Amino acid sequence: MSTYKERGVIFPVDIVPRPNLDLVKNFDIRDDDIMMITYPKTGTWWTHQIVKQILASEGVKDEKYLGDFPNLIEFSVPEKGALAELFKTAPSPRVLATHVPVEFLPSGLLGSKAKIVVVMRNPKDTAVSTFHFWQKVPEVKTPESWESFLEQFLAGDCPWGPFYDHALGYWKLKDSHNILFLKYEDMKKDLPAEVKKLATFLGRPLSEEAVQAVVGATQFDSMKKTVKQHRDGAFTRKGVIGDWKNSFSDEQSRAFDDQYRERLSNTGLEFEFE
Ligand code: A3P
Repeated sequence: MSTYKERGVIFPVDIVPRPNLDLVKNFDIRDDDIMMITYPKTGTWWTHQIVKQILASEGVKDEKYLGDFPNLIEFSVPEKGALAELFKTAPSPRVLATHVPVEFLPSGLLGSKAKIVVVMRNPKDTAVSTFHFWQKVPEVKTPESWESFLEQFLAGDCPWGPFYDHALGYWKLKDSHNILFLKYEDMKKDLPAEVKKLATFLGRPLSEEAVQAVVGATQFDSMKKTVKQHRDGAFTRKGVIGDWKNSFSDEQSRAFDDQYRERLSNTGLEFEFE
């Protein structure tokens, strides 16, 4: 794994070459942009598909750019280069995404009228999903074991930064008017309600029929079949709440819960784990 640290945050150099961080900072935001923000493995592809389906009901398509791949603006991808360059000239409305912590966002984003959607997932399932993902991606070091990976996750030694710093950095913005917070668990439990909420937030309210069409196209089984598979299917692995129970020992779970309480108590941010 080749990584570097910028302001204490780890980035994989092959995916996010250091100059991309400046390109992101200086990226010009348009008022009609949609920016999805996620920590890795918390539902990026899923939310991207939902937003795309919502826009598709207006005939908007972005296949010309990356197809199914979320438009993560800090990334460089083979043959296309830095996405922050590529998307400078993309037609509106642009559906952008990023995993970067709040301090790395484009400097004009928070003061703009762009719609910002932050998606979060419970950290135990996020950790398990990340563990499996790292075994399939050459750009990050393959964990030697679940035990060693979990230690690393608890130490916050992960690309795009420690989970809690990332989540709390965004959670501070929860009262801003142009930011919608979604949780993976809510989407799993009642996708139609979350799709409706998201479409309304984006200023594109949907009929019941259209909501059902978006839900049909974006539930796990459909996505597994229809979304182009990258990385050996790692973006649609299991898609459930509570898979952490298959990896965590009781002792590991207790240690994790201690840190969870320590970091999130009195913040108002909480997650469902089953
Ligand atoms: P698991 O590894 O737990 O299965 P990201 O897109 O941010 O990389 O997140 C990947 C995680 O989201 C994976 O979790 C993946 O299975 C899950 N996911 C993708 N599409 C989903 C869907 N339609 N419904 C539920 N989970 C989904």
